[in-house]
Amino acid sequence: MAAYELIHHEYDVVVVGAGGAGLRATVGLAEAGFKTANITKVFPTRSHTVAAQGGISAALANMGEDDWRWHMYDTIKGSDWLGDQDAVQYMCREAIPAVVELEHWGVPFSRTEEGKIYQRPFGGMTTHYGEGTAQRTCAAADRTGHAMLHAMYQQSLKCRAQFYVEFFALDLIMDDDGVCRGVIAWDLANGTLHRFRAHRVILATGGYGRAYFSATSAHTCTGDGNGMVLRAGLPMQDMEFVQFHPTGIYGAGCLITEGARGEGGYLTNSEGERFMERYAPSRKDLASRDVVSRSMTIEIREGRGVGPNKDHIFLHLEHLGPEVLHERLPGITETASIFSGVDATKAPIPVLPTVHYNMGGIPTLYTGEVVTSADGDEDKVVPGLMAAGEAACVSVHGANRLGSNSLLDLVVFGRSVALRCAETMKPNQAHKPISSTCEERILDRFDRLRNASGSRTTADVRAEMQKVMQDHAAVFRTGESLDEGMKKLNKTAASFNDIAVSDRSLIWNSDLVETLELDNLLGCALTTMASAQNRKESRGAHAREDFPDRDDDHWMKHSLCWRTGDTETKIDYRSVHMYTIDDEIDVIAPQKRVY
Ligand code: FUM
Repeated sequence: MAAYELIHHEYDVVVVGAGGAGLRATVGLAEAGFKTANITKVFPTRSHTVAAQGGISAALANMGEDDWRWHMYDTIKGSDWLGDQDAVQYMCREAIPAVVELEHWGVPFSRTEEGKIYQRPFGGMTTHYGEGTAQRTCAAADRTGHAMLHAMYQQSLKCRAQFYVEFFALDLIMDDDGVCRGVIAWDLANGTLHRFRAHRVILATGGYGRAYFSATSAHTCTGDGNGMVLRAGLPMQDMEFVQFHPTGIYGAGCLITEGARGEGGYLTNSEGERFMERYAPSRKDLASRDVVSRSMTIEIREGRGVGPNKDHIFLHLEHLGPEVLHERLPGITETASIFSGVDATKAPIPVLPTVHYNMGGIPTLYTGEVVTSADGDEDKVVPGLMAAGEAACVSVHGANRLGSNSLLDLVVFGRSVALRCAETMKPNQAHKPISSTCEERILDRFDRLRNASGSRTTADVRAEMQKVMQDHAAVFRTGESLDEGMKKLNKTAASFNDIAVSDRSLIWNSDLVETLELDNLLGCALTTMASAQNRKESRGAHAREDFPDRDDDHWMKHSLCWRTGDTETKIDYRSVHMYTIDDEIDVIAPQKRVY
């Protein structure tokens, strides 16, 4: 066994990750009297939630009629009927108190003339079950995530949660009986290793956008929780569904919020045509993201892209005028200027669909409990383990997430894990003894990677993986391109065994951090490619040109994918929850999805 001294800690609950979901869970747990630790690899207010721009959805009806049942309908339609309807109902209903709570916590929302929270239209958000346009997205200009993160961090300090900042979580302590009993983490600043015992571990580690070459995600979005879960022998769910945001800045990949189209922005091709009118006659530029990204890709493929290489699209905001841009969209006006050299008040912004969000992740119930269903249809809960936020697949977003439902997911399900803990456990209970084998495995892996002396650099392997994902698990897919992608990815994943880590130090060793992150990313990439290869239909963000239709008879089910070896995966399925949480609300039956 590798000889590392472990510093021991005991908590009721350990939360891994301090973005929106992690912080909301931390506040709820600490308020409920649990001794709570939050382990985070970056300072909390630098978590990727800080980059969320356009807003958080809730049917407040501040700017026109609205109803959370319409929100529920839109979300299920947006999910292309892969969302679990109990979870979607829970999220849309709880959205209203969740946003009011944020307001009370001091989130500086933009305001209407009467002083109410300002709400803007977003893609796929309608009134009367698809008839009108809802103004449902509550915004703090175009810096909503930033504002929320700061308010929630302040709340978690107020209730005295304990933070372990710049700690990298290595792996879950899974006991021989399959119960999660804590986590082992590395303190990046002083090189010490820590064992955190806990009755519940909550993974809120965000998405894995950095498995791709071009993503709106921060470099920290490396699927660390997903990697830990895969190494624990548990599956990922619905990994084939990767969202491409229509408006990443061409070349740079930075996000230009959908709120820009919500405020009246529109897309044009090289003929100056507002082409979305052809693809989505009713919702046009505010169709859901998968629809807009596919339409843009078709325009470019058919030779109507803009620029010297005809390889991108224009987003027009100049007609909105400097006042609106300054008041409602100041951040993206600045981003456009810095990253594309465009003055958005005068010229269109060059944009391209860019990887933005992972609908797939750690399978959970709406209580946050992690499930696996290796035994047929029955949801089996994994004791001691919970997840929330982008790391989790609840599944409220199904095959495609609606814009502004992400910030909502973070706070609603961050809160629900805390509520579930309060329902199912008491503070200050003694910890059971654990077998040493699991810890040994974790430390041996850490030591092996720290001393890895192969011939490939982490940067090379990562770049290869990112290129394969970008080329082969893109907006459109075919069986042939996925098979070829899988072959290439297997070769790349196998070469991880030949990696070289140049720095042996335990203090601020960025080479080792990036290698550990790469291992997590590779697990996410492999399960994404395998799930996409396996799903022979088109649904939401998974568009197969060789299977262009949705096939509810065979594929209205969640994919579960295990990583069973360096390059091997295994697929199984889990039923979509076609039931709601109370009898008053009917299930929304599958329909043709048009915008
Ligand atoms: O476009 C945006 O502002 C992103 C929002 C989201 O992904 O929910």
